[in-house]
Amino acid sequence: MEKKDIDWGSLPFGYIQTEKRYVSNYKDGKWDDGVITDDANIVLNECAGVLQYAQTCFEGLKAYTTQDGRTVCFRPDLNADRMFDTAARLEMPQFPKDRFIDAVKKVVKANEAYVPPYGSGATLYLRPYMFGTNPVIGVKPANEYQFRIFCTPVGPYFKGGAKPITIKVSDFDRAAPHGTGHIKAGLNYAMSLHAIVTAHAEGFDENMYLDPATRTKVEETGGANFLFVTKDGKVVTPKSSSILPSITRRSLMIVAKEYLGLEVEEREVFFDEVKDFAECGLCGTAAVISPVGKINDHGKEICFPAGMEEMGPITKKLYDTLTGIQMGRIEDKFGWVVEI
Ligand code: PLP
Ligand code: COI
Repeated sequence: MEKKDIDWGSLPFGYIQTEKRYVSNYKDGKWDDGVITDDANIVLNECAGVLQYAQTCFEGLKAYTTQDGRTVCFRPDLNADRMFDTAARLEMPQFPKDRFIDAVKKVVKANEAYVPPYGSGATLYLRPYMFGTNPVIGVKPANEYQFRIFCTPVGPYFKGGAKPITIKVSDFDRAAPHGTGHIKAGLNYAMSLHAIVTAHAEGFDENMYLDPATRTKVEETGGANFLFVTKDGKVVTPKSSSILPSITRRSLMIVAKEYLGLEVEEREVFFDEVKDFAECGLCGTAAVISPVGKINDHGKEICFPAGMEEMGPITKKLYDTLTGIQMGRIEDKFGWVVEI
């Protein structure tokens, strides 16, 4: 398969339209067979549920070229599971999990020329999503939906790649207790846009959101979970019912324990203790692991010992091991890597 003539190494995390995408429609209580199509545009009624009441959700996962030239993706079953849970919470129909994985494979196969080569630093980002399509004017769920998956080749989510970033403690809340923070609803991201634009305008890369009820505990950022490392090398991640259960974070906790022999802990993390950690990183499909060098809390700075030039040593080991598994350099002990 001849690859597209793209400068893979310079790709930002952005959208490049590829040739093929997957579409399936839900009507009269069932999903149709689904097709791969060339059409990147969607025509909707002006009163579609998604346009009026934001009935939309999404997922994100990546396809890679391994060292030995295979095309693979990482734990797509967990994306299928999470979208299933998200759909239930948003009163949307659930897309069957086996069909989700099959559609992921079809999209990657149909766009194989866009899967970046091994070692390029780029990946193919897949975006499964679903939205209400029929007219809805009273506040109620739609009864017709579309499920789609498109893909786009991407580079690093944060501009510097593996360089530590600076984040601020946000005065805005991301998700309410008993709200929708634990699912991947579009609305969670719509309401974070003002906060991220504000953070960027102030010179920060991202926001650290605290728990809205007490504003004493660390939640997550707009698009990634937190990992911390204690001075004695324990990996700690915040436990909260209002953060997204990141597949990357869950995988990294297993990598830390089972590959690196580190102690791991998922528990409430109070903001007051953040200054005592040795390392801090953001983890997610887009972010992979992005090291945090500095946290600004209303002018008061917390600087992590590794500084602003490189990742801390344990963050680096986690990063190297996870990407090693994904790229086929390290044994995939748990069958996480799925060949296309
Ligand atoms: N938290 C939020 C709010 C996200 O949007 C994402 C991205 O999907 C993550 C965490 C990371 O999750 P995952 O590792 O499954 O991509
Ligand atoms: C992902 O990591 O896949 C996400 O959906 C995060 C998004 C903010 C880009």
